[in-house]
Amino acid sequence: MSNPIKRRNFLRLGAAAASFFGFSRIASGRSEAEDQLARILESRPAAGKPVIGLQVKPIPQVRVAVIGLGNRGEEHVRLVNAIGTQKARITAICDIRENVAQKTLEFLQKNGGQKPAVYSGKADAWKEMLRRDDIDLVLIATPWEDHVEMSVYAMQQGKHVGLEVPAAYTVEDCWKLVDTAEATQRNCIMLENVCYGEEELWLLNMAANGVFGTLTYAECAYIHDLRELLYSKDYYYNQWRIRHNEARDGNLYPTHGLGPVAQYMDIDRGDRFEHLVSMSSMQTGLDEYARTVEPDNEFYNRSGYRHGDMNNTLIKTHLGRTILVQHDVVTGRPYSRINMLAGTKAFHNGYPSRMSMSGKGHGWLSKEDYQTYRERFTHPLWAKLKKEAETNGGHGGMDFVMLYRLIDCLNRGLPLDMDVYDAASWSVVTPLSELSVQLGSVPVRFPDFTRGRWKEPRKQGVMVHP
Ligand SMILES: NC(=O)c1ccc[n+]([C@@H]2O[C@H](COP(=O)([O-])OP(=O)(O)OC[C@H]3O[C@@H](n4cnc5c(N)ncnc54)[C@H](O)[C@@H]3O)[C@@H](O)[C@H]2O)c1
Repeated sequence: MSNPIKRRNFLRLGAAAASFFGFSRIASGRSEAEDQLARILESRPAAGKPVIGLQVKPIPQVRVAVIGLGNRGEEHVRLVNAIGTQKARITAICDIRENVAQKTLEFLQKNGGQKPAVYSGKADAWKEMLRRDDIDLVLIATPWEDHVEMSVYAMQQGKHVGLEVPAAYTVEDCWKLVDTAEATQRNCIMLENVCYGEEELWLLNMAANGVFGTLTYAECAYIHDLRELLYSKDYYYNQWRIRHNEARDGNLYPTHGLGPVAQYMDIDRGDRFEHLVSMSSMQTGLDEYARTVEPDNEFYNRSGYRHGDMNNTLIKTHLGRTILVQHDVVTGRPYSRINMLAGTKAFHNGYPSRMSMSGKGHGWLSKEDYQTYRERFTHPLWAKLKKEAETNGGHGGMDFVMLYRLIDCLNRGLPLDMDVYDAASWSVVTPLSELSVQLGSVPVRFPDFTRGRWKEPRKQGVMVHP
């Protein structure tokens, strides 16, 4: 059994680190560090009933609105359109930039003829759109800083929300999402597409069927050389993303790697993230790259970015599992989410996908044996949708499978696969890792967004009604 570390010990660690790093004492007698660590764990009264397993009436044709039509939002529009109007219709779209909204409208008109209402031209045009009464589901694909305000308002207007990753990047904002979902009894699902990858759903299927035995540890990551895109004046709206690297140090984008691992390990369904420690390497990748961009770029020759080139965050779960989550978007190395999973009976490593089994020697499984597992444990969603996923694409088809599944669950009145607690527990790694880094890699405990319900074992939704 696990040996949960007592809160007091955590605070003592905080205090030790605080004196080591020279944090001052504040009015309450606690150090700043102790105060920050304690605030994370303050209990909050619930604003409504829990939304675990939330079921709403079937919506035969889901009326969809999209806010933010950039790289990601435009893809959501394309894929919802591909799913077809029998299942979903796009009733409204919004982007602050008129030309971008217009381009999306033209795409829809040329590809099937949908003609949603268009909102644009000002920063809060989305509010007007959300007051319409012909929207069931809002997909939000705006810069990170807008996610929570838009989601909260949408739920208050009675809409279900699918919001892009990460859902939020402060502890308070994670709570706002949970509290609002509970108060309004609306779905708030984070659109973690990687949870619908063919390899990830195959691993989930094997983990759920005992192939790995007892799961003990995992490693995952977002390793993606984004330097060119971060500095580009055209790729991200107003270069919003590099501003986060400039101001913050921690794991800024944990959920692509961590979401699937959380599902393998049934996090908030019998286990939970208990605490993390985080450490960043030196920062130099962006300083150096800044010298190579055009002089008319706002970030030309800028230095002093806070985000270390590599952030390593290590999470311990209540049952004693460990998870390494890495974040590196500035090193010239191949893309990887690692996707490593270890159990008492089997082991998997991604990039490329390989597996070994206890009792079958020290090497990887042969191609044939590996293929046998692939076929035997193909997830039913991929068995059903593979052709369409390949035709429609979106990160190898995972985006199509995710949106199809979300809409299908709403059509059939099924609970969604992921809930607001998943969104909060996975996203909160960002602010907790920032705090740990800031305080010298001290342990930081996770808030319990489920308010104790994590102890109730539950199957993953995607394993119940595939
Ligand atoms: N799941 C994935 O694989 C994946 C991939 C890429 C991006 N994302 C996520 O999607 C989100 C958007 O990223 P992106 O790459 O599309 O960025 P982007 O800059 O291309 O798109 C953001 C869009 O939001 C619009 N916008 C900004 N403020 C607005 C406002 N007030 N009202 C309406 N529209 C507004 C911008 O004009 C822009 O078109 C981020 O959360 C990102 O992390 C996820």
